[in-house]
Amino acid sequence: MSDKQKIDKTRRNLVIATSVAGGAASVGAAIPFVASMLPSERTKAAGAPVEVDISTIAPGELKVFEWRGKPVWVIRRTPDMLASLKKAAGNLTDPASKASLQPGYAANEYRSLKPDVMVMEGVCTHLGCSPQMKTADDKAEMGADWAGGFYCACHGSKFDLAGRVFRGAPAPTNLVVPPYTFLSDSTLLIGDDKKGA
Ligand code: FES
Repeated sequence: MSDKQKIDKTRRNLVIATSVAGGAASVGAAIPFVASMLPSERTKAAGAPVEVDISTIAPGELKVFEWRGKPVWVIRRTPDMLASLKKAAGNLTDPASKASLQPGYAANEYRSLKPDVMVMEGVCTHLGCSPQMKTADDKAEMGADWAGGFYCACHGSKFDLAGRVFRGAPAPTNLVVPPYTFLSDSTLLIGDDKKGA
């Protein structure tokens, strides 16, 4: 073998060794990543609490988050929206939420920890469809008395802006309020109410 051939062979071996080392490094790096992802995905599916930023929710706006595979709505209620709750009270199936599901701290006239921040599951208590928000401007569709709330198109249940169901609707109870807490003014923890500010 000539000197040139020897040098070429050494170079080839070096290239092969480098590729193998590179491959091993990638595999080595990938395993901890996958291992660290899987348990957290599993925990999420099992219902681990989710931390959500509510700082960008404008007054009157609703944002949807996900907890335990369900939509959870967070609505920033305006003073007008809060006033509409008092007007609705006479037309509701369970105005004081006695037969409905919510944590004790949300068993009040606003069904919430802070009046302006409403948190509830966006799942109709009739057969599980997801209702849609209808504002006070949707009177043409919802009726002259409509002051804002939610409408379930599946079988026509209507709810006010605290998720309380209107009388005569097929949904038997108010929308469910999940456990939650404020970690700060702008951060909510949904699914756990033991920690927090
Ligand atoms: S599922 Fe909402 S009214 Fe039937």
